[in-house]
Amino acid sequence: MFITVEGMEGCGKSTQCAKLEEYFTRLGFDVLRTREPGGSALGRELRRIVLDPQNTDICSGSELFLYLADRAQHVATVIRPALENGRMVICDRFADSTIVYQGYGRGLDPGMLCQLNEVAVAGLWPVLTILLDLAPEQGLSRALARNTQDKACAAEGRFEAENLAFHTRVRQGYLTWAALHRPRFLIIDAAQEPDQVFAAIIRGLEEKNLV
Ligand code: TYD
Repeated sequence: MFITVEGMEGCGKSTQCAKLEEYFTRLGFDVLRTREPGGSALGRELRRIVLDPQNTDICSGSELFLYLADRAQHVATVIRPALENGRMVICDRFADSTIVYQGYGRGLDPGMLCQLNEVAVAGLWPVLTILLDLAPEQGLSRALARNTQDKACAAEGRFEAENLAFHTRVRQGYLTWAALHRPRFLIIDAAQEPDQVFAAIIRGLEEKNLV
């Protein structure tokens, strides 16, 4: 089973991915928790470049290809081999992030992005995508609070530096995209406490007969 988790900065993706890993491990699954960008050896180098706030002059096109390169390598060397070995994969961000950030956020054409994503994923799509939905004001204030406490996060703050209008487009983009792909998406209100968010995820998984 391949599950992805999406949502804006500060929506709690990493917390929920960790909870999902624990939950499915307890059920007896051999779980691989991974993320994009940075889920492969090459990807970790790309992640440093693409999230460095000092790289203020990356144009939309090169940003796109850095994420796609990260994804192609991640699918080929990490995700697909894990699934072929019978493991379950939980991935923090995947192809939908490209549609939403580079498409709805930066203004690149979603149709073209779908085709390019297809090159990167080579037919491998998640069975379920959990969208943690949160108002952009709330997500940003959580993400910025995290960056002031944690130097490593601050070093990856290129997107947190984007303005509220960008993050509003991202939030709306996620909701529009999820509505277009209803069967694959589970939309969860991420303004609740982490345990409530997780309980809502499990209810959603049960409703979709995935647990
Ligand atoms: P990450 O640390 O995963 O985000 P978060 O702060 O939510 O934990 O950083 C990844 C950033 O990269 C995030 O701001 C979204 C952006 N991104 C894209 O623009 N396109 C993509 O395809 C992916 C995977 C991420």
